[in-house]
Amino acid sequence: MIRELQWNDMNDLIENYYSYYEEVKRDQEFGIIFFHDKPSFESEVEWFSNLYRNTMKGDAFVRVAVEDGKVVGICDIHRIRPGSEVSHNGVLGIAIREGYRDRGIGKALILGALDAARGKLEIVTLSVFTTNKRANSLYRNLGFIDYGMRPKSIKRGNRYFDELYMYILL
Ligand SMILES: CC(C)(COP(=O)(O)OP(=O)(O)OC[C@H]1O[C@@H](n2cnc3c(N)ncnc32)[C@H](O)[C@@H]1OP(=O)(O)O)[C@@H](O)C(=O)NCCC(=O)NCCS
Repeated sequence: MIRELQWNDMNDLIENYYSYYEEVKRDQEFGIIFFHDKPSFESEVEWFSNLYRNTMKGDAFVRVAVEDGKVVGICDIHRIRPGSEVSHNGVLGIAIREGYRDRGIGKALILGALDAARGKLEIVTLSVFTTNKRANSLYRNLGFIDYGMRPKSIKRGNRYFDELYMYILL
């Protein structure tokens, strides 16, 4: 089930996020940008509170996927610098928990979040590791267009990853 964000989604989302810190230990190419130190539970609560508040203000457009009674994925689009000359732009982020990928959930989440943002934002951008073939192909199939690449943008241990930038007009 794809639905809007709810206040009681917090614990599932924090648990999912922490699981990505475990996953990257096994998969060095895992396509999410991490902080060097895993954020504390307290800072995660703050992150969630801000996300929830921004959805209420119309500055964030969020869809979550629920399966087995748990939130297993999230796609959020954040308005850039609300109240400014760039606030017609949004930035998209997405992550789905291991075990639930490659079943169309990502596609459904992105379509849901784009639908929620339509009429409120005009342009949505995202960035993706060039090595993240699944995400690259999903975004392109949904109509995102490449507009640039930042070489060696991500430094993970002694390895660098290039970051590809894409946009879609709503
Ligand atoms: C990237 C991610 C959001 C995609 O969500 P998902 O639910 O797995 O994706 P979907 O099942 O909706 O679609 C995946 C598509 O990629 C395709 N795909 C899968 N592996 C692929 C590969 N190695 N190369 C090319 N395409 C691939 C699938 O066939 C599918 O295409 P289709 O819709 O034409 O059948 C999800 O896998 C994820 O969270 N990954 C880990 C975190 C991450 O990388 N986040 C993105 C940060 S930019």
